[in-house]
Amino acid sequence: MNLKKTVLISLVTAGLMAGSQGALAATFKMALGDAAGGTQWELGQTFKTVFEQKTGGKHKVDLFPNGQLGDEQNTVNNAALGTLDFSVLAINNVTPFSPSVGVLTLPYVIQSAEDAKKLTLGEIGKELTENTVRDAGVRIVGWAYSGFRVLTNSKKPVTNVADLKGMVIRVPKNEIMIATYQAWGINPTPMAWSETFTALQQRVVDGQDNPYITVSAMKFNEVQKYITNIRYIFSLEPLIVSESVFQEQKPDVQKAILEAGREATEHSFKYLLETEDKIRKDLVAKGMQISDAANGEKEFIDKATTTVWPKFYASIGGKDKLDKVLKSLGR
Ligand code: MLT
Repeated sequence: MNLKKTVLISLVTAGLMAGSQGALAATFKMALGDAAGGTQWELGQTFKTVFEQKTGGKHKVDLFPNGQLGDEQNTVNNAALGTLDFSVLAINNVTPFSPSVGVLTLPYVIQSAEDAKKLTLGEIGKELTENTVRDAGVRIVGWAYSGFRVLTNSKKPVTNVADLKGMVIRVPKNEIMIATYQAWGINPTPMAWSETFTALQQRVVDGQDNPYITVSAMKFNEVQKYITNIRYIFSLEPLIVSESVFQEQKPDVQKAILEAGREATEHSFKYLLETEDKIRKDLVAKGMQISDAANGEKEFIDKATTTVWPKFYASIGGKDKLDKVLKSLGR
């Protein structure tokens, strides 16, 4: 083999080995915290299809569901370092790296799917995207809309705040969510998402909260019996791209990433509206028992908003920021 040929083969091999390392990558890796089949999967698959079509098959995306590429919070670190290209994860797992996005997880700020869409696709969403680039080295290019996080547990029906007493509830490692359960009178157990199913199965914890579609995708119905309809957080799950990987791409590839992200976001909203109710019924058919929080959830709402909001004004960028968000939602 002549020298020229050897050098060429080495360069091609180096390019392939670079894998997730940016401009040379023909195939990007996308981490998903959830198992296949839920809103994260729908967003990721739609992104993949549109992006591959827009780049004429030159670039590909491989999806790795179920935390195969690490826990959700670790994927933010890895994307910031440029060792991972994309990740789809819950917004509450981005907040520790970019506290101002906490405004999207303050309890009872988002009250409908329409509120969620308005915030993420409007001025506020744009500002939060810029903040995550600045603070966390990752760029939000799409959103999955997953619905309200409902409370599940294996012990008994919960309808009042007092019913939580004595229960061990897993929450993400997120200060706002920890403070919310404290406002409801218990100390929750912060735990990585990737450890949650096993902890529920082994009864290390009694319950957790996540949207219906996530409960179903993760097969929590196999280890949880009771659901309480609370609406304290509307689950938003951004698709993030490593900012260093994004900046290494040619303008046409960057454009394809942004366009595919927008199309996947539109799809995600429709998917939620078409699917959530079917999934709820399916979970009941599989034996789960659903209750509503008593008195229109008043006690949960009052305790959470009066205690938790003021604690986080500073981290979200001031009370004015929350006022601006509420005003943009017509409140
Ligand atoms: C969590 O509870 O940590 C996340 O919301 C799970 C998810 O990404 O679905």
